[in-house]
Amino acid sequence: MTRRRRWTDTGWGLGDDSRSSMTPEEARLIQELIVEFCGLSYGLDSTFFLERRLGPRLEALGLQSARDYYHYLRYDPNGPGEIETLVERLTTHETYLFRESYQLDAFRLEIVPEIIRRDDGAKSITVWSAGCSTGEEAYTLAILLKEDARLRDWNRRVIGSDISRKVVAAARRGQYGPSSFRATSEYFQRKYFREKEGKFAVRDDVRSLCSFGQLNLLATERFRVLGRCDAIFCRNVLMYLSTEARERIVDAFYDSLNPGGYLLLGHSESLLNVTTRFDLVHLSRDLVYRRPL
Ligand SMILES: C[S@@+](CC[C@H](N)C(=O)[O-])C[C@H]1O[C@@H](n2cnc3c(N)ncnc32)[C@H](O)[C@@H]1O
Repeated sequence: MTRRRRWTDTGWGLGDDSRSSMTPEEARLIQELIVEFCGLSYGLDSTFFLERRLGPRLEALGLQSARDYYHYLRYDPNGPGEIETLVERLTTHETYLFRESYQLDAFRLEIVPEIIRRDDGAKSITVWSAGCSTGEEAYTLAILLKEDARLRDWNRRVIGSDISRKVVAAARRGQYGPSSFRATSEYFQRKYFREKEGKFAVRDDVRSLCSFGQLNLLATERFRVLGRCDAIFCRNVLMYLSTEARERIVDAFYDSLNPGGYLLLGHSESLLNVTTRFDLVHLSRDLVYRRPL
């Protein structure tokens, strides 16, 4: 009698045998597919990590081996949908409002004033939160733009995008629990959020500045539809991607920025070994990247 292999808490095994059973070749094939799809490489060199994340999907689909799963992803008509589900299981969506305040200060006190000074009469500012997760970063930026009285009659636009449809839907809802407010002052929480169904919902006048969409950052040809940006926040995203993916995405960010536009990365990220096209600008509160004028 053949026993069907089944997922266990510690691995993918036969009955009680919970030892790892994904072969290095299977792991390599799946890693390559994921990197090709979205650039994600972080943690994928660990077969154990892959097994833990993939196991429940194999179980749910009734597949026998990681190789079967690879074939499903690659050739089944449902493969493209499944790879999105898989990436969902491999990514972290950790985020919160007013994250990395020193950088937001740099944006508010140095970058926005420079954009205002350079204005040619168009009175328009566009900021993109690329890899926005559940939307806290985009709403934070919208609040900062609303707070600046000099922008009152400007066309203010905040774009939020993420590869995950789930988090984009949550971003559109804009309702948050306490952990999203861990770095938010009581003043801003009260001013821009309303209590709703046990959560706090972002006020409509902030929401109206924001638009959200699903976008895989590797699909750089789609960036054009967003139009030119004055600043791109891509924080805590590139660190999870392969070098090739970073190069491609950052190159496309360059083209999406207006001359003099800024690229802001997470505090542990840099463009070292990625590109030399951007100027590194020392602001008083942060080091940021700028497309040369
Ligand atoms: C840790 S969150 C960062 C959220 C926010 N930027 C912040 O710093 O608080 C990383 C996000 O990047 C998204 N992501 C990862 N790879 C992506 C890709 N290739 N295209 C678009 N989004 C991606 C994930 O879905 C996740 O929501």
